[in-house]
Amino acid sequence: MKKIAVAYSGGLDTSVMVKWLKNKYDCEIITVTGNLGQVGELEGLEEKAKATGASKVYNVDLREEFIKEYAYSALKAGALYEGKYALATAIGRPLLAKLLVDVALKEGCDTIAHGCTGKGNDQVRFELSIAALAPHLDVIAPLRTWEFKSREEEITFAIENNIPVTVTRDRPYSIDGNLWGIATECGILEEETLAAPEDAFQITKNPIDAVDLPQVIEIEFESGIPKSINGVEYDPVELVEYLNIVGSKHGIGRLDQIENRLVGIKSREIYEAPAATVLHQAHYELEKLVIDRETFRYKQNISNKIANMIYDGQWITPLFKSLMAFVNETQVNVTGSVKLQLYKGNVWVTSRSSRYSLYSKELATYTIEDTFNHKDSEGFIKIYSLPYRTLAMKKMELANALGRTISTGT
Ligand code: ARG
Repeated sequence: MKKIAVAYSGGLDTSVMVKWLKNKYDCEIITVTGNLGQVGELEGLEEKAKATGASKVYNVDLREEFIKEYAYSALKAGALYEGKYALATAIGRPLLAKLLVDVALKEGCDTIAHGCTGKGNDQVRFELSIAALAPHLDVIAPLRTWEFKSREEEITFAIENNIPVTVTRDRPYSIDGNLWGIATECGILEEETLAAPEDAFQITKNPIDAVDLPQVIEIEFESGIPKSINGVEYDPVELVEYLNIVGSKHGIGRLDQIENRLVGIKSREIYEAPAATVLHQAHYELEKLVIDRETFRYKQNISNKIANMIYDGQWITPLFKSLMAFVNETQVNVTGSVKLQLYKGNVWVTSRSSRYSLYSKELATYTIEDTFNHKDSEGFIKIYSLPYRTLAMKKMELANALGRTISTGT
């Protein structure tokens, strides 16, 4: 090992890891941090990294690329893992892996180190992405092999080595956050039968304490991409930041659930994703207005497949690229606006409109203006139900031949 590019967040695990790598291998260490909009964590990063043994520090602002290329792809795809998790951590990994590989190649590193444990999903996401981008680089994951048996032991090592840590024995959460959402684990949260304490939530108000006044916002989309809110255009990062602030105030986007990890474990997860929650709901409603029924139904399967692929670390694969080509084709007419009401943890869609709307009031109405020909349904249903009528007739015929009577439903 000559030179290591280390995925560095400034949190407990990666801080301890840099020191540990330096002690063990005594080689050159370059820390690599991608700014995806994580709250607070990046302050004093450079000094902290150097104090623990890094010779060079990369701190790259990836926020715009993250939202435009990653979060908005997941949004267009309708990617919600197990129906709910907006995949904030999962979509960040392939982008961070790309940054790590870029830096490693530029700096002549032969190894990349990451701070993922052996029982999470992120190790798979990092390593699959790195393998697909730079198969010749070695990857090491000290947390899988080092001597520390618990986070308490890491905290002790950090204190002994003067590594500043924000994690304390009273609040030993592992937090991963970015603009698309925050995931909080560990500590008391490992007790799945207990409600999460309030301090496990980083940005959202408890819906019970959220403002008493409902707020209506209107989001305009262009080909599946959110462009403006209440008529004001925002760049991608600003738009998501704005919705995170507004959504947090109304207690939106909290999730407390058991989740199936790729390595087979079930884990208890706490999520906060105000902007992603609002945007997914608005986008889904607009799709229902403008996408034809069969494409819409088919896309639901693709959404589920894409969510699983993102979760399982398969962003940089040919299949993912192909499925995203399908998704992008479905988004051509996803242009229009959706009004939503935010109130005490809930997002209600109140209205929608688009110049590509397939809603026809003349067809839908029950008034005199109705243009739908009710008589057409008669023939349609006869043919539509023909296979089942035929089946039922056959059953009756066989029962008669055997001298048995049959009751309905047999
Ligand atoms: N379970 C989530 C995922 O695999 C989030 C993991 C976040 N990590 C953390 N240390 N909180 O995408």
